[in-house]
Amino acid sequence: MTQPSDMSPAAGGADVKEPALSPSAPSSTAGRALRAPSSAAESTFEAMSFAEAPQIKSEVPGPRSRELLEAQEALESNARSYPRSVPIAIEQGRGATMRDVDGNTFIDFFGGAGVLNVGHSNEAVLAAAEAQQRKLVHALDFPTQTKITLMRKLKRLLPGRLRDSAKFHFGGPTGSDAVEAALKLARAHTGRHTVIAFQGSYHGMTAGALSVTSDLSFARPVSAPVHFMPYPYCYRCPLGLERQSCGMACAHLLESSLTDPHSGIPKPAALIIEPIQGEGGTIVPPPGYLREVRRIATQQGVPMILDEIQTGFGRTGAMFACEHEGIAPDVITMSKGLGGIGFPLSCIAFDAALDSWEPGAHIGTFRGHQVGMAAGAAAIDFIEQHQLAEHAARLGELALSMLAEAAETMHAVGEVRGRGLMIGLELVEDQSSRQPARELAASLRRECCQRGLIIEIGGHHRNVARLLPPLVISRRMLLKGIDILIETLRELEAAKPDASGAARLRGKTGR
Ligand SMILES: Cc1ncc(COP(=O)(O)O)c(C=O)c1O
Repeated sequence: MTQPSDMSPAAGGADVKEPALSPSAPSSTAGRALRAPSSAAESTFEAMSFAEAPQIKSEVPGPRSRELLEAQEALESNARSYPRSVPIAIEQGRGATMRDVDGNTFIDFFGGAGVLNVGHSNEAVLAAAEAQQRKLVHALDFPTQTKITLMRKLKRLLPGRLRDSAKFHFGGPTGSDAVEAALKLARAHTGRHTVIAFQGSYHGMTAGALSVTSDLSFARPVSAPVHFMPYPYCYRCPLGLERQSCGMACAHLLESSLTDPHSGIPKPAALIIEPIQGEGGTIVPPPGYLREVRRIATQQGVPMILDEIQTGFGRTGAMFACEHEGIAPDVITMSKGLGGIGFPLSCIAFDAALDSWEPGAHIGTFRGHQVGMAAGAAAIDFIEQHQLAEHAARLGELALSMLAEAAETMHAVGEVRGRGLMIGLELVEDQSSRQPARELAASLRRECCQRGLIIEIGGHHRNVARLLPPLVISRRMLLKGIDILIETLRELEAAKPDASGAARLRGKTGR
């Protein structure tokens, strides 16, 4: 079994006094070296955002936001979610910033839940979308030059052998639709029904996608034939092991579950996995883990579906996150960044050998959203021309090192982890108990919003502050946002008694 190769012996021990810096995070020295002077790219990225961000002119929510929030409450279902914790009505987005209807300008570390890799209202992408809109918007699944161009561009970007063998399928517009299509394709091909998914997973809200999502609070369909395996959440190992010495037991359990005739788990139609769990709390598996899963899936003849809906299109410092591990799945799901600046579009790319569908086997009215496809093709050009994946890798290292350095003097940060511009801070009551600090996370999101920074919360216990800024964020804007985050966290920490009951009043961040 492959062992994690580059793990710091200090990381993640049971009795850590210092916050654990995930193996994916760099040392602070490396991070400091990255604080380089600005470049041409920096001025391009600066010009894409509202330069004054953050700028808070009214209370948050301001009077106009309040009005719209109340109107929304009267008209929209109780399931509405984000405005409950980030109470603003948005008027305009630019680059890595947003302005609300009261004129408050925010740094956006949420990026439309990881959609806006090329930034809000990216001009180049907008131009392509506007041009397409005047020609053709809706085309069912007829071929158009726009669709063929997008598929050719995507194919060139795919990992490994998928680059040669892939076929595409555009389903409904959202990520969940891509997951549905992937599961259905695998079932059609194998004639098998059950699926292996992973604890901590999030794959969407439609019935099939929900069936492979592990969060029990979402009322999953009870009849779903899905078996959940432990994901390597090493900070809270589901097997109770230590990452330095576990021998990647979670991968071993997956293998034995598939090979042992007494495991009680029938051979599945597919296994579906995120290369980095997003909603589950930005959980980065140890090096080698995904390669192990790939090996096991191949040996057992189980199609591997990799859900890159959140990690794709440069987010983690590579076009697709699986490139970090040098693997290619059998099916890859894409959405979020695929539609460029937020046009809803999703698709799967899969090994043509799986294409057992009969004509019309997976149809839908909105499978040919030409504007989304034109925007997607333009976004790919933009990502490549501006080397956004490399930019995300550099800024991600910088952010991780700054956060890890700050966390050394805080008791509420259990672990800083992430890859590229997909970053999480696991908040705890104190580092020795590792008790999840759910309320602190909620307060952090609320307070950051008051100061002009939008962040998200996720994780098994809703105690992970999640950062997914547009990849076009400038270094200056990123540092500003990180400073606000650290400052706010320090103040919240200082205002709260620690585990021993003594109020710890700390100075402001020295940065
Ligand atoms: C990894 C992953 N898969 C699937 C989905 C579902 O996508 P959508 O909300 O567009 O249906 C999400 C959404 O956050 C996701 O992060």
